[in-house]
Amino acid sequence: MRVLLFGGTGQLGSELLAQGTSKGWTIHAPSVDEVDIQNVEAIKRIIAGAPPDLIINAAGYHGLASAEREPQKALAINFIAVANIAILAQTYQIPFITYSTGYVFAGDKGDCYEEDDVPCPINAYGRSKYMGELLARRSAPQLATVIRTSVLFGGESFLLKILKKNKNKVKVSDEQIISPTYAKHLAAGTIQLIEKKAPAAIYHLVSEGACSLAYLAMETIKLSGSSTKIIPVNSRGYRKGVHRPLNSSLRNVRARSLGVMFPSWQGALKEYLKSLS
Ligand SMILES: NC(=O)c1ccc[n+]([C@@H]2O[C@H](COP(=O)([O-])OP(=O)(O)OC[C@H]3O[C@@H](n4cnc5c(N)ncnc54)[C@H](OP(=O)(O)O)[C@@H]3O)[C@@H](O)[C@H]2O)c1
Repeated sequence: MRVLLFGGTGQLGSELLAQGTSKGWTIHAPSVDEVDIQNVEAIKRIIAGAPPDLIINAAGYHGLASAEREPQKALAINFIAVANIAILAQTYQIPFITYSTGYVFAGDKGDCYEEDDVPCPINAYGRSKYMGELLARRSAPQLATVIRTSVLFGGESFLLKILKKNKNKVKVSDEQIISPTYAKHLAAGTIQLIEKKAPAAIYHLVSEGACSLAYLAMETIKLSGSSTKIIPVNSRGYRKGVHRPLNSSLRNVRARSLGVMFPSWQGALKEYLKSLS
């Protein structure tokens, strides 16, 4: 299978590149310097020159604070570029996968969000991702798949940064509920959906379970044997000028119905930390 992959140097994209290559796929993964996804003509040239069997977009803009300051930039990458790729996918009849986030939800549900829950983003990042979702699905309803996920770890993740800081104390938000997800498992789950020829739709793909950011940090510290103390803080979802959903945890209803299962986030975290040692 020939795959055109954007964002191949990122946390998720590098896993997709490694796992897809080991499956025997031929993956063309241009760097941002080679092809900026905002450059629709450059993407069109690649697709028209050698149409791939699948396009995956793992590129994205996810600076929460900078998205509030520069919403146009977040919209250009997370919305306009995604819509343009979906339109090309429709024109050339190529299946297309792109990624979104639990931040498309308002955060007031007292349970994990499922695929059919109604999005209502409360910040600029969430709005840009939601617009991308809508236009991807509407531009190529039979071909565009949107995979929503939540706080990724893997490679040089923020968890590793906490460990490397080697500080006595680190303050972490305790009020935001998330579904921490191992990027390696997200890539494997994506590949399973591809192999199962899952119909184009919105899918949630996260490790099983939910917890607060602070609890995730505490588990990381405990499992790694670090002496850093995590101080849970409650910022009521508002930090660095950004409102964050108090709950952005997700449940994989559709993928599970197709037999795509994820381990618990605790198991995934152990596997990730083991891979670092
Ligand atoms: N990380 C999370 O916690 C999280 C949570 C929910 C959803 N998601 C979504 O999951 C997807 C993958 O996230 P990730 O954490 O793997 O992202 P990441 O590590 O930040 O990687 C983003 C990738 O996109 C590339 N990129 C950025 N702007 C680009 C542009 N204009 N044109 C082409 N490439 C560009 C980056 O290249 P350079 O590195 O060279 O800049 C990098 O390869 C994104 O859609 C993200 O919104 C992530």
